[in-house]
Amino acid sequence: MSRAPFDWIDGESERRERAGLVRTLRPRAADQDLLDLASNDYLGLTRHPAVTGGAAEAAHRWGAGATGSRLVTGTTALHTELERELAAFCGFEAALVFSSGYAANLAALTALGPHGSLIVSDAGNHASIVDGCRLARARTEVVPHASPEAVRKALETHGGPGLVVSDSVFSVDGDAAPLTQLAAACREFGAALVVDDAHGLGVLGEGGRGALHAAGLAGADDVVATVTLSKSLGSQGGAVLGPARVVRHLVNAARTFIFDTGLAPAAVGGALAALRHLRAEPELAARARSVAAELHGRLTAAGHLAVRPDAAVVSVRAPSPEAAVAWAADCRAAGLVVGCFRPPSVPDGISRIRLTARADLTERQIDSAVGTILRTAPTA
Ligand SMILES: Cc1ncc(COP(=O)(O)O)c(C=O)c1O
Repeated sequence: MSRAPFDWIDGESERRERAGLVRTLRPRAADQDLLDLASNDYLGLTRHPAVTGGAAEAAHRWGAGATGSRLVTGTTALHTELERELAAFCGFEAALVFSSGYAANLAALTALGPHGSLIVSDAGNHASIVDGCRLARARTEVVPHASPEAVRKALETHGGPGLVVSDSVFSVDGDAAPLTQLAAACREFGAALVVDDAHGLGVLGEGGRGALHAAGLAGADDVVATVTLSKSLGSQGGAVLGPARVVRHLVNAARTFIFDTGLAPAAVGGALAALRHLRAEPELAARARSVAAELHGRLTAAGHLAVRPDAAVVSVRAPSPEAAVAWAADCRAAGLVVGCFRPPSVPDGISRIRLTARADLTERQIDSAVGTILRTAPTA
């Protein structure tokens, strides 16, 4: 009997359904009346008039699309302006903008992890790092979470060229990587350090200059950062920051740069406006951190288990995947949007609801969010 080409998908769907792991899209209305603690808009800039104005002006001036690859027609003066200002702000020699943070991670790992080299990757790293490791010609060794000792052992055993890659702040629990110790391990073995600062830019370091700036590692000739423009900067896109020779190499070797249409001018203009806004209002970064600390403090005081947040991500443990889903749904019904993490997205099998602090939350909104979370919490 002949089978249609996609019949196998039905089996996959049934398995997913049985395990309660079906994902569906929930379109968001432009004017929804919900308190949002699930977005990554840490500084509340995505709807700031300066940022939407910067995006609109860029679209009017440069067009809706970049028109081609960055190497052909897709580099506008606006792209280079953003690269210059972003590098200077974060303390790096140079920067290169990509169409997403995902593409920036693929670029850094594939172009800097050639055949014969070793990539040492933290077990808690973001999926885009995992995929970058899979695409790179280097061999990848995944090491236990936040373990400089395991990193040291991996580099020592390999002996050849090496690169260590880590999130600066991990998406699931919001804990920070031990960057100083990782850099020391790298330096002991002549390895490069690549840090994904997606959750650190705009939140950590002086005025939001990021985790590497805070650790005194920004601008070092053996350190590279990747960032997204879609969280604190409220726009879209990504970037790699590092020594100028690394950036020149990426222009020539990174396939997600060469074979991808340049970032849309509106996204560039929005990110640039957000960066300038952050420079003018450096206290936004500390405010996002203090909102996170307050959410954490009040929820743990009420008996909930949560890792102390190092940036703006606050994860609260739920007793089971079903309880996490029900908790998030009850919050939504009460007007509060929170994230929900459950296996297989969490490697340790522990389900959580996940809150992202925002610098623009008022005390009243924080009170209301905490009240809703406590009122809807699963009974143990
Ligand atoms: C740690 C981390 N790295 C990379 C990315 C990807 O960034 P983007 O959404 O810009 O592709 C994300 C965002 O989801 C992230 O959380």
